[in-house]
Amino acid sequence: MARAKISAPKGVSEYVPPRSRLFEFVRESLIAPARLAGYELMELPVFEDTELFKRGVGESTDVVSKEMYTFTDRGDRSITLRPEGTAGAMRAVIEHALDRGPLPVKLWYSGAFFRAERPQAGRYRQFYQVGIEAIGLDDPAIDAEVIAVADAGFKAIGLKKYRLEITSLGDAQSRAAHKVDLTKFISTLDLDEATSLRASMNPLRLFDDKRAQMRVVMSRAPLLMDYLSDASRRHFESVKTYLDALGVAYVLNPRMVRGLDYYTGTTFEFVHELLGSQSGIGGGGRYDGLMHELGGQELSGIGFGLGVDRALLAAEAEGVIALDGFASDLYIIPLGDAAMLRAMEIAMDLRKAGKSVEIAFGDRALKGAMKAADKSGVRFVVVIGDDEMLTSYVKLKNMSSGVTSSVKIASLADAL
Ligand code: HAM
Repeated sequence: MARAKISAPKGVSEYVPPRSRLFEFVRESLIAPARLAGYELMELPVFEDTELFKRGVGESTDVVSKEMYTFTDRGDRSITLRPEGTAGAMRAVIEHALDRGPLPVKLWYSGAFFRAERPQAGRYRQFYQVGIEAIGLDDPAIDAEVIAVADAGFKAIGLKKYRLEITSLGDAQSRAAHKVDLTKFISTLDLDEATSLRASMNPLRLFDDKRAQMRVVMSRAPLLMDYLSDASRRHFESVKTYLDALGVAYVLNPRMVRGLDYYTGTTFEFVHELLGSQSGIGGGGRYDGLMHELGGQELSGIGFGLGVDRALLAAEAEGVIALDGFASDLYIIPLGDAAMLRAMEIAMDLRKAGKSVEIAFGDRALKGAMKAADKSGVRFVVVIGDDEMLTSYVKLKNMSSGVTSSVKIASLADAL
């Protein structure tokens, strides 16, 4: 009797060929601008001490209060699969004393993150982010650079139909002044128990309430933007001036609420127009109190996390990437055992020269192999038969034009 099949857990995103080609292209496009700007790789564990996220991300957030994958390990420790990357990055910076060296510390990462959300299109329980963090410099220029690096990543994919929203959550002084009035405002509302609890942990969370009636109520609430201290206002003005000068377009959104509690000062989100309700393709901001909160020194930081899954969906929705852009340079079809060895030698040489070369393995007839080559979208095909074994020439077929030309084997790399 056949055994029952096992499926992937509910709500995970996974990528298999051929779509994984697109995923890889999107991820690499998002990473490249960070590398070019001098950010360095950090490879961190996907599970951490649960306390890290409680303290770092904040207990008033949905992420920590409802969405964490938390379990007790065999040593009776509470472990959580990382729901985001900033807290872990900061933990590692402190642990490895990177903040005792030259500042800013500039890091990038890419990998899987986990949130037990209700799955839907563009919202997964395991998803992928590319992120950067710049730690230890409170300068509007670096805010603008971080934002510009994210924007360059989306542009490298070819995305156009998105907007960048920015705001400032101010410094501690700004937020304290705003909190007084916001708390006063909230005290006049008739709230259910869960909402009151959220408000008592972080009153700003109420701006994030998705219920229509709460949105109407909160449209009258005082906005943090109107409470910025002089220093915060100057910082934010300067960020905008840099973005203008760099040609990075943005719109102001003073009602933006990020899903994580560590944000301070400049905060931003990239919103795509074709993605429906899960339209956030990336976001980030300053987190000036986080390092201290996690037991480190009092240093500022700013960074972003870009959603690779959503950026891919956005690219597909805009029609800016296609599968056939990623096929190999050459497909070699050997006829017979001796030809197979010759094909493998040629392939090895060409791969050393940086060409992508596939061989038709298996005992496939010429016709079938040609069909497979055509289907794969490969650019050129070479057949190695008896004739080719005797001379140093092969017939190179250009699959898009159908034209065949005789090429010396030693010159194949140039011909490709
Ligand atoms: P975040 O806004 O929570 O920020 O997530 C960043 C991006 O990850 C989102 O804009 C979205 O594209 C993607 N994303 C989040 N949750 C899901 C999900 N369930 N399914 C698919 N994609 C998702 C952070 O995580 C911060 N750590 C970013 C940051 C770095 N801030 C400062 N430094």
